Amino acid sequence: MPPMGRLGGRVALVTGAAGGIGQATARAFASDGATVTGADLRDAALTLDVTDQDSCRAAVAATVEAHGHLDVLVNVAGIGSFKRTTDVTLEEWNRTLAVNLTGTFSMCQAALPELIDRKGAIVNLASVAGLRATPYNAPYCVSKAGVVMLTKALAVEYGAQGVRVNCICPTSVDTPFLEGFEIPDDADLQLFARTGSIIGRKITPGEVAAAAVYLASDDAAMITGTALVIDGGALA
Ligand SMILES: NC(=O)c1ccc[n+]([C@@H]2O[C@H](COP(=O)([O-])OP(=O)(O)OC[C@H]3O[C@@H](n4cnc5c(N)ncnc54)[C@H](O)[C@@H]3O)[C@@H](O)[C@H]2O)c1
Repeated sequence: MPPMGRLGGRVALVTGAAGGIGQATARAFASDGATVTGADLRDAALTLDVTDQDSCRAAVAATVEAHGHLDVLVNVAGIGSFKRTTDVTLEEWNRTLAVNLTGTFSMCQAALPELIDRKGAIVNLASVAGLRATPYNAPYCVSKAGVVMLTKALAVEYGAQGVRVNCICPTSVDTPFLEGFEIPDDADLQLFARTGSIIGRKITPGEVAAAAVYLASDDAAMITGTALVIDGGALA
């Protein structure tokens, strides 16, 4: 019987798989036919710390060992918080970049040889914050702007070898992630309007997952190096 679904016969590795978007992504990939390995610091089939390059290489190796190959890497793991820049410690700055940007780089680097073999795809979770600054959020904005450019750089470098690399830029998605975002005292709340959805509700994790499935599938065969914005019209 031929593989079913848009991702039938494909193997996907999803990082941040215990979180809101990661869980939804793993589910959406599986229901479109993919075999999925979910990896996270906590509560996932595979334990992964994206800040540790050995751990990244081990996650790719374990996926290939279990399922024979790797076709899609979805980098969802991420952290963030709101703080005035004058209150951000160097440790917080470094940690945000280590997880969001360097972690994405390390996972891509570990997976690329397998993805080249399979003419596979990478989907990175960036953010609207990587395109237009959100206030009190400099480390996160910088890390996500880096993810957008990393996506483009890899798309250019590996396109001729058949690997497509795209990222998704959502505004607020309804997950536990936002609970870590405590607005500083006396913050200028008007500044948040810059990235607010016009449609007037948060994005669901499933709406982000659907975009990841699309970008990983052959429906997006000619799409690479793109930052797909899911923002309810915020940047319109
Ligand atoms: N929720 C939002 O509003 C929103 C908006 C735009 C972009 N994003 C991005 O989407 C991604 C997922 O967000 P979410 O809302 O599902 O958040 P979440 O907090 O629910 O999930 C994030 C997951 O990443 C994991 N993680 C953190 N550090 C890790 C590490 N070092 N190694 C491996 N895993 C690690 C966490 O354990 C957690 O399960 C993040 O990259 C986030 O920046 C989220």
